[in-house]
Amino acid sequence: MGRVYNFSAGPAVLPEEVLREAAEEMLDYRGFGMSVMEMSHRSGMFRDIMEQAEQDLRELMGIPDHYRVLFIQGGGHVQFAMVPMNLMKHKVADYIITGQWAKKAYQEAKCYGDARVIASSEDMNFSYIPDCSDLPIDSEADYVYVCLNNTIYGTAYPELPNTKGKPLVADVSSCFLSAPLDVEAFGVVWGGVQKNIGPAGMAIAIVREDLIGDCLQGTPTMLKYSTYSEHASLYNTPPCYNIYICGKVFQWLKKLGGLEAIKARNEKKAKLLYDFLDQSKLFQNPVRKTDRSLMNVTFVTGDPALDQRFVGEAEQAGLLNLKGHRTVGGMRASIYNAMPIEGVERLVAFMRAFEEREG
Ligand SMILES: Cc1ncc(COP(=O)(O)O)c(C=O)c1O
Repeated sequence: MGRVYNFSAGPAVLPEEVLREAAEEMLDYRGFGMSVMEMSHRSGMFRDIMEQAEQDLRELMGIPDHYRVLFIQGGGHVQFAMVPMNLMKHKVADYIITGQWAKKAYQEAKCYGDARVIASSEDMNFSYIPDCSDLPIDSEADYVYVCLNNTIYGTAYPELPNTKGKPLVADVSSCFLSAPLDVEAFGVVWGGVQKNIGPAGMAIAIVREDLIGDCLQGTPTMLKYSTYSEHASLYNTPPCYNIYICGKVFQWLKKLGGLEAIKARNEKKAKLLYDFLDQSKLFQNPVRKTDRSLMNVTFVTGDPALDQRFVGEAEQAGLLNLKGHRTVGGMRASIYNAMPIEGVERLVAFMRAFEEREG
């Protein structure tokens, strides 16, 4: 079987070019006679890989010098805890709940202080982003927390919330590097890498320098942002191979023309799918139009049995992992950076043919 079109929400499709390069370098990385997986993390070869990765990420996102780039083991859920442990100095934080991942982050923060919900879209199964122009932000709040792209529901913030001067902390796991982002608008930008950047099990946190260093008492060494910041993410053995693949994806993005170019590509792909959904009589997108995600597109027929048949038949046609999350039902196509436009064209053609047959 050749490569399929993989619409998984994560771990997800990676650029074929990156995978081929990694395969070529598997046994002998650039004449060093070993795989990156076998290298000492203290070796010059690996340090070069890591430094290049950070430099490329800084360049891609335009990360200012007063922000630190931290490569942290453990994925998203570890950040749900690290954020309050490192930032909740006054033991108060405000959370905007736009889905399961924001809610889980909020529930974790409650273990460390007074986490409050200041807005939520749970009343309509998270199908929209609440108005964030004038929120009841606590004067004592250490930060305001958002999940910028809601993987399960297919929503994204059309604009950033007004935090009234408080640091904004954002989970960007499912929209990482999908479009330019004004890093300076945030105190912390963090994302698990397993959707748009690399293998699962690691997060990258971009943290404003002045927010580092004043963590809650009892915070374990490996959960302090300062440990990563002071040791260039090399305090212990980092997820070396993971960082190497992320670095390759950064290079791939640079070759494509950077984040403006990938944004244009992503918009084109998403438009193909949303335009089809908007005229379809069989499939509907349950999300408020202004709040649609570029990365995760949800759709339903309204008939669970028909949805199930669609997913099964799509799989037979080489279009994989289109089943929606159980809390939304129906289908979800995750069309991350590495999904080629041909994959979306094939999906739309398949949906059109299915509708003609079933409609
Ligand atoms: C937006 C978002 N945040 C956090 C997570 C949780 O990440 P992890 O499974 O790495 O803990 C996910 C997982 O899919 C996600 O989509």
